Amino acid sequence: MTEKDFIPKTYTNSVENGTATWSSPSNIALVKYWGKKDNQIPANPSISFTLDACKTTTTLTFSKKERNDDFSFEVFLDGEKKYDFKPKIETFFKRIENYVPFLKEYHFVINTKNTFPHSSGIASSASGMSALALCLMSVEKQLISIVRSSGVETSLDENHFNQKASFLARLGSGSACRSLEGDLIVWGEHKEIPNSSNLFGVKYPFEVHENFKNYHDTILLVDKGEKQVSSTVGHNLMHNHPFAEQRFAQAHNNLSKLIPVFKEGNLKSFIDIVESEALTLHGMMMTSMPYFILMKPNTLEIINKIWRFRQDTGLHICFTLDAGANVHILYPENEAQEIYEFIKTELVAYCQNGHYICDRIGFGAKQLPI
Ligand code: PMV
Repeated sequence: MTEKDFIPKTYTNSVENGTATWSSPSNIALVKYWGKKDNQIPANPSISFTLDACKTTTTLTFSKKERNDDFSFEVFLDGEKKYDFKPKIETFFKRIENYVPFLKEYHFVINTKNTFPHSSGIASSASGMSALALCLMSVEKQLISIVRSSGVETSLDENHFNQKASFLARLGSGSACRSLEGDLIVWGEHKEIPNSSNLFGVKYPFEVHENFKNYHDTILLVDKGEKQVSSTVGHNLMHNHPFAEQRFAQAHNNLSKLIPVFKEGNLKSFIDIVESEALTLHGMMMTSMPYFILMKPNTLEIINKIWRFRQDTGLHICFTLDAGANVHILYPENEAQEIYEFIKTELVAYCQNGHYICDRIGFGAKQLPI
């Protein structure tokens, strides 16, 4: 597949107006994407658990407009008009215009809501961009009907629909391309993962042991403020980073190592890889120029407590981090009761206002009825 394969040939149908609603989850990377080339091409492959409870629901309403010279849209979050969301969506529309050429023909009303608070420090860009990309694909689906050689009219096939939605979501926010399906998604070319692509996320194709079914992710909200350094700036600091090449090679290597780990259910090795990835991500931030730190003192308190508890109990609790201070605590279903008890009694005290979110591995986006 190349970018060109996502440019539609012609739209066969004319549609005046309509609406589409999709609900799309967030995801948490196990092998991290950090560093990109032009056009949102990742510098290394990544893999993530799709989440379940943290999600964005977006309704897109579209109506034909008279002139096709510019984008026209309004955005609402929880029913409130959000002018500050517009520049990001405008950039997204510019990037995807070639692939969804109907964009300037309609006025769009984008109504969006998250299950998690907007100012929780949890990035809504993955769930938000994937929900919007799926809504746009639902518009495209109405504009295309394909006449097969049998003479039967069909619509876009599901595989192309999902692949293109992931492709579009990537152009909104890289990690968003891993939010459409579940429960383990790979994004970025990797020699051992057939059909892996830099252009869109694909389902992890190999065997996954029972140990990883229903895996938990309890997200401790350590700092709900706006990040001092955006991920766009962070990614760019990987250009000319002294350790960039080693880091990209390490990500390839860690993804290779995870293949037997997933197959055999080896939780000990899983923990080693996942925690190392999280700390390497933050290590890259601390060693870029300019350097920066997104962890807070409570992030480190929590990590130390997790290590102590793991040593004392032998339970398979581990942490990962995204580009912020919040801590994702990952643990298997059959140890959930004891670990959750520990989180409530020992760790919640480190969260801002005691806030945390109980999530688990999920299976991707869903279209909601009109
Ligand atoms: O999708 P972006 O550009 O917000 O980058 C996200 C990067 C990390 O969350 C830090 C890692 C990842 O792979 O999700």
